[in-house]
Amino acid sequence: MTEKDGLMIDARSLTKDFGPTRALADLSFRVKRGEILGFLGPNGAGKTTAMRILTGYLRPTRGSVHVCGIPVAERPVEARRRIGYLPENAPLYDEMMVIDFLRYTAELREVPPAERDRRLATIGKRCGLAEVLGKDIGQLSKGYRQRVGLAQAMIHDPDLLILDEPTSGLDPNQIVEIRELVKELGKDKTVILSTHILPEVQATCNRILIVNEGRLVADDRPEALSGRASGASIRLVLKAREGELDAAEVGEALGGIEGIREVQKAEGEGAGTLGFVLRDSAGADSREAVFGAAVDHSWIVLDLHREQVSLEDTFRRLTLGEQEGGEG
Ligand SMILES: Nc1ncnc2c1ncn2[C@@H]1O[C@H](COP(=O)(O)OP(=O)(O)OP(=O)(O)O)[C@@H](O)[C@H]1O
Ligand SMILES: [Mg+2]
Repeated sequence: MTEKDGLMIDARSLTKDFGPTRALADLSFRVKRGEILGFLGPNGAGKTTAMRILTGYLRPTRGSVHVCGIPVAERPVEARRRIGYLPENAPLYDEMMVIDFLRYTAELREVPPAERDRRLATIGKRCGLAEVLGKDIGQLSKGYRQRVGLAQAMIHDPDLLILDEPTSGLDPNQIVEIRELVKELGKDKTVILSTHILPEVQATCNRILIVNEGRLVADDRPEALSGRASGASIRLVLKAREGELDAAEVGEALGGIEGIREVQKAEGEGAGTLGFVLRDSAGADSREAVFGAAVDHSWIVLDLHREQVSLEDTFRRLTLGEQEGGEG
């Protein structure tokens, strides 16, 4: 696959060591034109490191990246012409006016002088900056600062946008605004954004990569990481009935039901209740069988309902691994 086939990023076996710390371990992925890719992972997973390698600001210890067919490590300046980058905690010049800062980045990014004013007007409008162009950056709210950060990333009309936590530190209203903006931008750009805010990737991205300790642990559509494909869980609360109902015995009986993949003891609803979370096998719905078991054993069911596995569940499972297993 080459750029002609729409291959925007080809990252192969990226490994990055900082002294004894392995920040990335053999990370490979490809991104096609038009994708909005969410890059998820807990703190220290290697997201920023990967993004800095993609943008040519950091060299991998091993492995290679091509952006639009350009080998980034060998030709970083050329690659960066195709990339817009919003770094984590983007440094901005507080004492500069928004318009002057954008003019300055346009110059840095080699936007031809004759095109600069038109470009600035387009970007200012797109990023919703029209009213603050004359303000000093230091006066802006965090949401507006983030818009300025996005505007500087897009000033040279790059094909690929790499956004490192574009909504970090924003309030919920600003998050929705930036999210909408990113979605809008994604209509004609390829976007990679990193975040730990799960609803954000679900709302914005059409593909999600999850990294943990520098390794790729998932690469799929958001629906696949949350919906049916990963199965669902059943929440069950029983009346404990002092001395008559033993949690371990109930757990064992539940584990014997066909279609139930895992039984976890969970919070009930306070004293006198027993709670369980039962994991369905993919595609199964075991509620009827659970109800049948309750009848057979004369359990008093206080609650029985099904919940789709959320992206959060998947994220926790993949990034906490065995530590979370619970009993079952
Ligand atoms: N310049 C550096 N020198 C030494 N270690 C580093 C450096 N940059 C990153 N690391 C280490 O590499 C690992 C990955 O860090 P990275 O910043 O890429 O994670 P991240 O996924 O972006 O985390 P966060 O969600 O907190 O932003 C961490 O263990 C970090 O301490
Ligand atoms: Mg980071």
